[in-house]
Amino acid sequence: MRDAKLHGTGEASNDELPDGPILDPETIPLATSPEAPPLELPRVIAIANQKGGVGKTTTAVNLGAAMAEGGFRILVVDLDPQGNATTGLGLNPRDVGGSVYDVIMNDTSIEDCVEPTTLKNLFIAPATIDLAGAEIELVPAMSRELKMRRAVDAVRDQYDIIFIDCPPSLGLLTVNGLAAADDVIVPIQCEYYALEGLGQLMRNLALVQSNLNPSLDVRGIVLTMYDARTKLADQVEAEVREYFGSKVYRTVVPRTVRLSEAPSFGQPIIVFDSTSRGAQAYRALAKEVSRGASRRAR
Ligand SMILES: Nc1ncnc2c1ncn2[C@@H]1O[C@H](COP(=O)(O)OP(=O)(O)OP(=O)(O)O)[C@@H](O)[C@H]1O
Ligand SMILES: [Mg+2]
Repeated sequence: MRDAKLHGTGEASNDELPDGPILDPETIPLATSPEAPPLELPRVIAIANQKGGVGKTTTAVNLGAAMAEGGFRILVVDLDPQGNATTGLGLNPRDVGGSVYDVIMNDTSIEDCVEPTTLKNLFIAPATIDLAGAEIELVPAMSRELKMRRAVDAVRDQYDIIFIDCPPSLGLLTVNGLAAADDVIVPIQCEYYALEGLGQLMRNLALVQSNLNPSLDVRGIVLTMYDARTKLADQVEAEVREYFGSKVYRTVVPRTVRLSEAPSFGQPIIVFDSTSRGAQAYRALAKEVSRGASRRAR
């Protein structure tokens, strides 16, 4: 394995990618099997990358929706005070009763705040802006890193897959998400600074593994916002594939206007525009992620 080259120190307009190692292969907690077996259910999958705007929420919402369409019973937990997964699935944070804040700070059961969505089989545990306070209020709490795990463990048998949409930070909320998860999926945006910060993320994953959650696995890396018209997107894809190998899903999510419009209608892309390229991509990704897992009898 060679050093990854994409590094955000140069001019973004420059087509040439600057040299410079940013990922230490020793710290990358990759699973060893080149072809992962079918997804074991129930499964808790955190969608994480501390970099902002890389497609975490879009992936949590639309991968969740595509899997719900395939018959899996899916819960999306919105662990981000911005509440984008909540609004993207058609809920107004002002109208929700309980929220993930209550789950984390008041030991409320997740089931007490779960809401249905327009899609059968797809449920959301909503976030409201007060979740921002939890990042600070959690600091002196007992077992502060394990609040989400406790809550998720209590309901994991009621869903096939629980996706946790993490916020763009490596703070206590994200650590809670990672501690609660079996797997993590990392979205990487096909842009110039793609790999910047990934070394830090991988080191954090390793820390969570050694201190809180030894079985946490980097299930996969998904390339998002791929723009076929730019040479740069190809370069980024090649770099990421060379570096992470079979960890990178074959499905690449294209940059499409429809995908960015869907959240303002409170709909996942498969509802908003079922035949669009974005919908097709997330359906293909759902197939790859599930790897032939079958729904559990209920
Ligand atoms: N494939 C895509 N094509 C076009 N727009 C996209 C695509 N994926 C995401 N977007 C848009 O890019 C923006 C960032 O995406 P998203 O909210 O999913 O990222 P995020 O990583 O969750 O961001 P944050 O770090 O703020 O939580 C949003 O406006 C979203 O609609
Ligand atoms: Mg988000």
